[in-house]
Amino acid sequence: MDKYVIRGEKPLFGEIEISGAKNAAVAIIPAALLVDGVCRIENIPQISDVTLFLRILESLGARIKTINRTTMEIDCSGATFRRGRFDLMRKIRASYYLLGAMLGRFGEATVTMPGGCDFGVRPIDQHLKGFSAMGAETEISGGLIRAETVGGLRGATVYLDVVSVGATMNIMIAAVLAKGRTVIENAAREPHIVDLANFLNSMGADIRGAGTSVIKINGVPSLSGGTYSIIPDQIEAGTYMAAAAAAGGEVLIKNVIPKHLDCITAKLAEMGVYIENRGDMVLVRRDGQLRRANVKTMPYPGFPTDMQPQMGVLMSVARGVSHITEDVWDNRFKYLDELKRMGAKVNVEGKTASISGVEYLTGAAVKACDLRAGAAMVIAGLCARGTTVVEDVYHIERGYENIVEKLRGVGADIVETSETEPQPGKAAAV
Ligand code: EPU
Repeated sequence: MDKYVIRGEKPLFGEIEISGAKNAAVAIIPAALLVDGVCRIENIPQISDVTLFLRILESLGARIKTINRTTMEIDCSGATFRRGRFDLMRKIRASYYLLGAMLGRFGEATVTMPGGCDFGVRPIDQHLKGFSAMGAETEISGGLIRAETVGGLRGATVYLDVVSVGATMNIMIAAVLAKGRTVIENAAREPHIVDLANFLNSMGADIRGAGTSVIKINGVPSLSGGTYSIIPDQIEAGTYMAAAAAAGGEVLIKNVIPKHLDCITAKLAEMGVYIENRGDMVLVRRDGQLRRANVKTMPYPGFPTDMQPQMGVLMSVARGVSHITEDVWDNRFKYLDELKRMGAKVNVEGKTASISGVEYLTGAAVKACDLRAGAAMVIAGLCARGTTVVEDVYHIERGYENIVEKLRGVGADIVETSETEPQPGKAAAV
């Protein structure tokens, strides 16, 4: 298994370019199944979740052409209903978007139960509730989810009992080719929801209100091809902002939408980090000591749960006692056990973690428990005294394009290795 070896306490200086948004790409690529023609999609992040999705689409009959590193043409006009690559679907959380896409395109769908990061129960009842309201019969058995309709989906009003990103996007995908109007109430408002709606509208869909809590979709008979560019990744940008804040130095983060970063910027500023918005770039500088802060995760525009572990690392070396309340996921504090191995002082009670800042973290062997937890361990390694080895980095590579190269580009001492034992001199503190 590959791991990262990081020698810490090196301030970061230079520029980092942000890639396309993972959580937009993993919805837009399956949504291409609805399009009768060639979708040229630009700014696709090179991450393993995207690679898996492209292979799944191919197994459903899509033709995929690579134009350059970040641009692909996806042509699903020849796709037919069939059994796709279940082995690959099982590896990604977002494979649930195939339910909406296949139902919309074929009137029936069979997919595996979703995989991906494990941080507690991850139900999809709200997705299924939406499909049922639209006339689909759904059944879960033997690790598979099967949905079918008689004569296709019909528009309906769906009130979401919880604000769910996945359910909002999945119902939106399913509704695009349904007969009549679908209304999603209590919808999530994340930037990637707006991006998915913009993609679908650019292919001929009629979706209004994405980015608000009521989304209206008027079904259209068909979608035709076009060109679309995915937005920059809000969480990738936030992660490098946190990395610069943890390691110190000055980093210019390029290709961002500063508005999407507002709550991250505000929290980092509260902790004593200098941040300057420069159009589609953001400059992050930290030279003094970090100050304590509190974070409560919430759906957008609240503080994103996907930035919670990265903030936990900053708090572990900030002056004073910080508190995190995790209000989105039940079990997203596992990374704190890893951080404790590096000397963090942490106490978790239910949904709240209290973190007392220490003077410095110490390098150790730690695991990437999931995608963002792994990113947090990398950040911890960058600011820790000594050498940190982060294991199970395949989690990180699901969602961060070239993280090692990007960090090395700003002066971090990080290498990827598949050696079973750390090399002498590389990982002395492990
Ligand atoms: N929920 C339900 N029923 C449902 C769906 C969700 O009860 O049918 C609950 C969940 O248990 C959770 C809350 O609603 O407590 C929010 O879940 P949501 O559906 O919004 O999450 P998701 O769509 O499965 C996406 C991202 C996650 C991110 C969350 C929240 C993708 C592929 N994943 O997950 O991203 O944490 O939204 O913003 O878009 C990540 O990128 O590291 C990641 C985990």
